[in-house]
Amino acid sequence: MKESSHINWIVADVRQFSTQQLFDLIVVAEVLYYLEDVAAIRTAVHNLVSMLAPSGHMVFGSAIDANCRRWGHVAGTETVIAMLNETLIEVEQLYCRGASVNEDCLLSRFQKSTT
Ligand SMILES: C[S@@+](CC[C@H](N)C(=O)[O-])C[C@H]1O[C@@H](n2cnc3c(N)ncnc32)[C@H](O)[C@@H]1O
Repeated sequence: MKESSHINWIVADVRQFSTQQLFDLIVVAEVLYYLEDVAAIRTAVHNLVSMLAPSGHMVFGSAIDANCRRWGHVAGTETVIAMLNETLIEVEQLYCRGASVNEDCLLSRFQKSTT
């Protein structure tokens, strides 16, 4: 991978990563449904939201609930979107219909309030 002096790459567990730094943009895609239960997803969501700067954006996307549950995961997009809506403002949402039902996913962009 080409090195860029303004980018830091960190490999971390989303359940444990923390920093004092606030981000203008956080992108989370196809990761949270790997967590063990809804409580762990909620903790990770809370952690990610806490790292978002005022007015910052979070782009979240993953397979839909029905697909995730069929694959043996506890929850998918709709569950996480409901959690994010508790503290962030949902700005737009896009349902992506795949060639097969297994590819259906939902993307959403959220914004944090200014305060
Ligand atoms: C389906 S891939 C999605 C990859 C990502 N959207 C991308 O475009 O590169 C799932 C990713 O979730 C990561 N993952 C699973 N559990 C995780 C955890 N607890 N913390 C951080 N990443 C995790 C896996 O390592 C894998 O890279």
